[in-house]
Amino acid sequence: MRWGIIGFGWVARDYMAPGIVAAGGVVAAVADPSPAARACAEALGFAAFEDAAAMLAAGLCDLVYVATPNDAHLDPVRACAAAGIPVLCEKPVAATLDQAEAIAAAMVDGPLYGTAFDQRHHPAHRAMAAAIADDVIGRPIAVRIVYACWVDPAWRPAGGAADNWRADPVRAGGGAVIDLALHGLDLTQSLLGEPLIALSIALQRRIHAYPVDDGGMLTARSATGVLFQSHVAYNCAEQLPRRRLEVLGERGLLIATDTMGQTAGGSLVCRPADTAAETPLAFDRATSPFAAQAAAFMAAARGGPHDFSMARDLALMRLFDRAYQDARLCL
Ligand SMILES: NC(=O)c1ccc[n+]([C@@H]2O[C@H](COP(=O)([O-])OP(=O)(O)OC[C@H]3O[C@@H](n4cnc5c(N)ncnc54)[C@H](O)[C@@H]3O)[C@@H](O)[C@H]2O)c1
Repeated sequence: MRWGIIGFGWVARDYMAPGIVAAGGVVAAVADPSPAARACAEALGFAAFEDAAAMLAAGLCDLVYVATPNDAHLDPVRACAAAGIPVLCEKPVAATLDQAEAIAAAMVDGPLYGTAFDQRHHPAHRAMAAAIADDVIGRPIAVRIVYACWVDPAWRPAGGAADNWRADPVRAGGGAVIDLALHGLDLTQSLLGEPLIALSIALQRRIHAYPVDDGGMLTARSATGVLFQSHVAYNCAEQLPRRRLEVLGERGLLIATDTMGQTAGGSLVCRPADTAAETPLAFDRATSPFAAQAAAFMAAARGGPHDFSMARDLALMRLFDRAYQDARLCL
C-alpha cells in the first residue's frame, strides 16, 4: 500500500518510513513546509510537497501517517478525513483536549483512524500481553513503568526541527508527561485489556530552564483494580537505566527492559514467585514497533480485525487532560 507522510521530521524519517518499508508498504509522498525535510524525502525517492492539500490532491496515497508537532495534528487529520483516506496520527492525539475532540468529531463517519501508539505493537509487549492472557503470572496486580530520557532546552533530534518545540507549552501541549506518559497509559490498557481510571499526576520542573514539566509521576487503577504507576522524565541521563516495564501478578513478575522506545529488541523475562530463576520469554527481536504498527494499520485498512479506536484514544485523552490540568495547578 502507498503511504503519504505529513511531517517528515525525526520520527517519520528515522523510524516510521523504514517501518513502512519493512512491513511491505511503500512511502509514495511526503508533505512538509521545511525545504530541508523535502530535500531529504526527495533524496530517498519520495515525491515531496509543501503542504498536505497538495499531497492529497496528487492522488498518490492509500494511507497517511501524520507526524507533525502536537499542535499541528488537527488540520492534516481533517484533510485526510475530507479526502476519505485512512490516517494514522502520532501521539498524543493532539496538544490540547479541544483539538483532540475536534479530531474525533472530524472522524465521525470518516475513514479509519489510528493513534500511533507504537508501543502496543512492540513484539515484546505483544508477548507480554499473551503471557498475561495465558495466566502465566496469575491475576495481574500492578503495572510499573519507568520511561525517561534527557531533553534539555537546546535538545534537537538529529535532522529534526530547528527549534525544540517539545519545550513549548503551546506546540507540545506540555512537557515530559504529555510526550512520554501516554505511551505507558495506552500500553497498560492494551496489556490488561481494560481501561484505566482514577488517574492522578504529580509534576516537577526540577532541572531544565523551560516552561514545561521535565518529569512526572503518575498513578491510576484499572476498572477491575490493577494498580498503575509510571515515572516519566526529560531529566534522566541517557547513560542510566531508564526504560523498564514490569507487570506483577499473583504468581510472578514479567520484566521488559529497553523495550519502550522506537527500536526493535530489548529483553523480556518472567520471574515466577516459586523460584528465583528468570526465564526469558521469546519474541520477534528483529521487528521494530513501527514496522509492526505499519503492518497492523495496513491490515486494518484492508478490512482485517484491528485494535485502533478513536473512542478509546479520546477517552484516554479526557482522563489524561483532567489529571494534567489539576497537576499543573500545583507546579
Ligand atoms: N511514537 C514515538 O515514539 C514518537 C517519537 C517521536 C515523536 N513522536 C511524535 O511525532 C510527532 C513529530 O515528532 P518529531 O520528533 O518527528 O518532530 P520533528 O520536529 O522532528 O518533525 C516534525 C516535522 O513536521 C513538519 N511540520 C510542521 N508543521 C507542519 C505542517 N503543518 N504540515 C506538514 N509538516 C509540518 C516540520 O517541518 C518537521 O519536519 C509528534 O507528535 C511527536 O509527539 C512520536
